[in-house]
Amino acid sequence: MFMRYRLRPTRLLTAAACLGTLLWLVVLLVTTERCLDPSHERGKYWTERCLHSIRAKLEKSGHGADCSSALRRLAEGDQALPTIYAVTPTYDRHVQEAELTRLSHTFRLVPQLHWIVVEDGEEQTHRVGRLLRRSGVVHTHLHATTPPEQVLAPGQPSWLRPKGVLQRNRALRWLRDTFPRGSPGVVFFADDDNTYDLRLFEEMRNTRGVSVWPVGLVGGLVVEKPLVRDGHVVGWNAAWKPHRPFPVDMAGFAVSLRLLLEHPKAQFRLWLPRGMQESHLLGQLVTGLHELEPKARNCSQVLVWHTRTEAPKLDMESKRAAKLQAGPRGNKAHESPATG
Ligand code: UGA
Ligand code: MN
Repeated sequence: MFMRYRLRPTRLLTAAACLGTLLWLVVLLVTTERCLDPSHERGKYWTERCLHSIRAKLEKSGHGADCSSALRRLAEGDQALPTIYAVTPTYDRHVQEAELTRLSHTFRLVPQLHWIVVEDGEEQTHRVGRLLRRSGVVHTHLHATTPPEQVLAPGQPSWLRPKGVLQRNRALRWLRDTFPRGSPGVVFFADDDNTYDLRLFEEMRNTRGVSVWPVGLVGGLVVEKPLVRDGHVVGWNAAWKPHRPFPVDMAGFAVSLRLLLEHPKAQFRLWLPRGMQESHLLGQLVTGLHELEPKARNCSQVLVWHTRTEAPKLDMESKRAAKLQAGPRGNKAHESPATG
């Protein structure tokens, strides 16, 4: 189809101004800032440094306001985005390193994300600390201990006890100790075993109060999701305990840091009926469903899955250990595996 364009003089002028500014920029890049000089010392932030100083010059000279604000956005880059604080409780088990490795690879791809990892235990372990440093993700490493009477005994069904409660509260305390009221940012509770689509983080990035979206593979459903009418959350298609005030999984919402700082007492609680953690927190922050901000195309898109990792069968390990303990009977001494 043929389209007709009308070139208005103002557009022509803007284009000319931008072209001029662009040319001037190139001159600046090559001369004053020596940004393209291969011998010029290129520290980690050389591009940012160059862009910042060029922008400052542009603004000082009063040239091309539009072009310089575009350049400012370019120079500030990701730093202009609100930070996402992803809170991950985690505990010692065989799959822990695998879970955290996978999660760290997701988070590496998310701009302006701060990972708060809270180990369930008496202290932060070097093992997790090393993994976090290797990950290259901006992080804070904390710990909080679940009291023994609340820890699942071997063989007990996983739903019997709430998990990650005191660890998430520890992260909330860190946020409140670290940031003054009014600070921007978004807090998301990212368990270590779920699967996250990168687009989810851009959906939650501009959460004003509490934002919500569907979660796949949870509550006995393929998708558990908020029901949205005219852009407002009016209910939930939840099958498991559907009468909870907010029948949402931990992976299905984010809260603005500002809102959390305005409610300094809002947190999770150990002794609550099953499945009430989310409703307990949200009930302290908003008055009802109407305040929730639906994301992911009005809650029609699944961008996070409540995947759970099967506990690996490691019975050969105990058989091998028993064999070793029994000694090298029947084996020649030099054939037995070295220990210690
Ligand atoms: C569901 C929800 O998705 C969780 O957000 C909720 O915490 C949990 O139920 C609950 O019952 O409390 P589920 O897959 O059953 O999830 O829970 P896990 O993934 O086993 O645990 C949630 C988080 O807590 C994970 O990041 C896990 O590493 C951590 N966790 C688990 C601990 O820190 N300590 C534990 O003893 C167990
Ligand atoms: Mn889980």
